[in-house]
Order: sequence, then C-alpha cells, then structure tokens
Amino acid sequence: MSDENKKLTTSWGAPVGDNQNSITAGSRGPTLIQDVHLLEKLAHFNRERVPERVVHAKGAGAHGYFEVTQDLSNYSKASFLSEIGKRTPLFIRFSTVAGELGSADTVRDPRGFAVKFYTEEGNYDLVGNNTPVFFIRDAIKFPDFIHTQKRHPQTHLKNPNAVWDFWSLSPESLHQVTILMSDRGIPATLRHMHGFGSHTFKWVNAEGEAVWVKYHFKTEQGVKNLDVELAAKLAGENPDYHTEDLFNAIANGDFPAWKLSVQIMPLEDANTYRFDPFDVSKVWSQKDYPLIEVGRMVLNRNPENYFAEVEQATFSPGAFVPGIEASPDKMLQGRLFAYSDAHRYRVGANHNSLPINRPQAEVNNYQRDGQMRSDSNGGSSVYYEPNSFSGPTESAQNKPAAYAVSGEADSVAYDHHDHYTQAGDLYRLLSEDERTRLVEAIVGAIKPVEKDEIKLRQIGHFYKADPEYGTRIAEGLGLTVPQVV
Ligand code: HEM
Repeated sequence: MSDENKKLTTSWGAPVGDNQNSITAGSRGPTLIQDVHLLEKLAHFNRERVPERVVHAKGAGAHGYFEVTQDLSNYSKASFLSEIGKRTPLFIRFSTVAGELGSADTVRDPRGFAVKFYTEEGNYDLVGNNTPVFFIRDAIKFPDFIHTQKRHPQTHLKNPNAVWDFWSLSPESLHQVTILMSDRGIPATLRHMHGFGSHTFKWVNAEGEAVWVKYHFKTEQGVKNLDVELAAKLAGENPDYHTEDLFNAIANGDFPAWKLSVQIMPLEDANTYRFDPFDVSKVWSQKDYPLIEVGRMVLNRNPENYFAEVEQATFSPGAFVPGIEASPDKMLQGRLFAYSDAHRYRVGANHNSLPINRPQAEVNNYQRDGQMRSDSNGGSSVYYEPNSFSGPTESAQNKPAAYAVSGEADSVAYDHHDHYTQAGDLYRLLSEDERTRLVEAIVGAIKPVEKDEIKLRQIGHFYKADPEYGTRIAEGLGLTVPQVV
C-alpha cells in the first residue's frame, strides 16, 4: 500500500500536529515537557538497537525455498523431505564471525550459513558455516576461542598473539585454519561459496531406524574467491560489498541456488570408523560415505525490512523437527543451549513469535506471558498440564529415537588425536599456486606475533601435517626447520 496521504501518528495512533518544530515557550524556547510527541520520539530512538550477536554480528539475509529432488524418506521422516517436488519456504542469513555489526564483508573469516526451513511440523534451523569443520571440538573451549578472535581488552585492537597462541595450543584447529588461510577464506560473494551443516546429525525414519548424517550445500554459481589485494581494497571502499551483491542479484532476478546433498553413515559404523565421526574438526571421506543429493535451495526474495527480518531472525541448532535429531557431538551439544539462551537475551523470551521466526506450523503449548508478548498469549485456553480441559497433548511418536550411551562421567577428550592427516591431505590437494597463496597468507598473519615460542609451536603443527607445508612457513618467517621438528 502506498504511504501517500497517510496521516503521521504517534505510536499510540494519534495524529501528530507538528513533526518539525518542538513545542517551546516562544520561538527561543525553552522546550516544554508537555511535547509528548517529542519525548516519545527521542526515547524510542534511544532504544532502536538490540544487542548485536556476540558472534556473527554482520550479516545479510534472504528468503527462498527448498525443493526436494530425491526421496530420502527411507532415512528421515521429516515432513519437508517427504516427496520429490515438495517446496518449503526458508530464510537464510549469511554472516562473518568475528567482526562487529558494521565491519567489512571482505575479510578473511569463516562465513555463517544459517537456514530456517518453515516446515509443516515446525521450524528446522540448520545453523552451519561455509566450511565443513570447526576450530575446536568441545563447547567448553568456545568462549576462550572467541576471545582470541575479538579485541584486546586494553588496546581494543585485534590481537594476532592471542589468535596464534590459542591455535598453536589447540592443534585440533589445524584443519580449519588451513581452510581459512586458503583461497576459500575470502569468498568472492555469498553466492559463490558452499555451505555445510558441519556437525553430524541423526536422521530417523518412520520405522524409528536411525542413521548419522552430514549436510553439504553446493553452490550452483560455482566457487569463486577474492584476491587478497582486491578484498582489502573493497573492505575500505565498500565494506558492505557482499551484502550489496546478494541484494542486487536477487533484486535483478538472478536467484542464487545451492544443491543440498547428504552423507549418510549407518549408526553402527560410528563405533568402528577410523576417527570419531562426531568430532567436528574432521570431515568424513566421501569415498566412504558418498554425497547423496536431496534437494535444491533457491533464494528469490529480499527482506522488506533489515531489522525486522535479518537482525531479529533467531536461528538455533536445537530447532529440530520430527525425523532430525542431535548427535553426541560435544560442540553441537553445547550449541543446543547457547543459541536459545542468546536469543532470550538479545531479542527476548518471546522471540519465536516475531513474524520472521514464527513457525507456519500451529504453536500450542503452556508457555505464557513474558515481555513483548504480541500474540493472543493462549487467550483463555487451559494454561497448565496435565489438565481435564482437552489442552494440547504430547504425541509419543514424536519422541526422539532412543539410543544407547555408555562410559564413565568424566572430563575427557575424544579418543582420537590425529589433528594432522586431514589438514595435510588438504594441503597436498592444493595446486602449487594455491599452496603459495596459502603460505603467504599464513606467514603474513603470523608475522606480527611477538613470541617466537608461539610461532615455532604453530610451525610444528604445519610440519606434522606435511613437512613441505611447515618448511615453507618456517622459511617465510625466517626461522629454520630444525628448530621446529
Ligand atoms: C551465532 C555460539 C559454534 C555457526 C552464534 C551466536 C552464539 C553462538 C551465542 C549468536 C546467536 C544470536 O545472538 O542469535 C556458539 C557456540 C558454539 C558455536 C557456543 C560452540 C560450542 C558454531 C559452529 C558453527 C556456528 C560450529 C557452524 C558450524 C553460527 C552461525 C551463527 C552463529 C551461522 C549466526 C546465526 C545467525 O545468522 O543468526 N553462535 N557457536 N557456530 N553461530 Fe555459533
């Protein structure tokens, strides 16, 4: 509807008499407190910001749909996967990780790839990244890790000492560090990168049979990356380069699309696979578990309002639907808590009733009240359970599938400690030019580190992944290889 001829009103709907001149005692003032429109206008402005996300603050979003291209209902009973051709609306938010809300898009950083599928059986959020692995594999390390990516408490500057100190003391990061420092660390646009669920999840079919699953979104635009000099130039000249590219592509009808495939592992293989398949610092070999296509994601509509949709969107790795469940992955388990907790703080306890987060499925439960309750709050219907008034009841067929666990309760790491093979395999896969750029990026990033001890420890990890990898970085830093082995 056009805004023409509409009366300007206060937030309580009364027409405003003057929006350019405050009520003052004569033309020289002072201003009278009775100008309630002025008071409301200033006060509302002071409250325009919600806290930015503690990570992934800078982002861009789009609406689209997911369409099933292959029937995998023998693996998952999720209703949105039930038949070929079925379309489910979705919202995606891409992001950088470490920078603030106004930071530049073209920095070297993983990109968030968070998808909300509005399925008939509730919202399914797949909150992944553009990389298949992560820097750490236990949630207990996440706050420390993120501190190293953020600003120094005194100087308020980014701090390479902290970054490389933490990574060199956390060798499980090596695989992700290698990906980050490779060409893929700076995607050309948000459209030219793959997306991954990264964790292992569980799929359960209608018979209650379960498998482990990993998700891969493959870009149909092809993978393209930015040259580092161009990225640095763009960060200065157009810090919103990726945001602008996505918006313009969709506005011009050039709708980006991704194929979604899954790797499927039989449940019992997890006990015998050569590393722990729940360890998010590892990929599963596609020779062992080939990609199986399941559908296609198309982004075809820009948000109408950035704050209402992109900023207020709340994605949670714990938002599952029947047929999709958590795995024991220790990072995923921590995330099951962290996101909804962040949403309650950042947006409020009723964040799921905002239009962008509201499921298309009916919501029936006994949660009531709370700040900014903007729906009917359950009206006069029964507000406790059990009850004798035909209130909503549980459906036993939707209980998560039971599975056996064992072991002593203790603070223990995963059994597998090979942090080097997969990082080395990745290095060996790169062309000579790609290796050169990888080494240059790492040398440039480590150079400002003050302590040689940290540099040497990190070079040792690169060396263990591949002697050539370690040697070239040592040489680039003016250190000799014998010092590091
Ligand atoms: C955002 C915590 C690991 C992907 C966030 C937020 C928190 C968080 C608190 C902000 C949420 C908000 O305010 O809306 C954690 C913790 C982790 C972890 C505690 C480890 C235990 C990961 C991993 C991935 C990931 C492994 C990817 C595989 C994302 C994405 C967002 C995000 C994509 C942005 C979501 C959006 O667009 O709103 N994370 N994170 N995180 N995280 Fe994580």
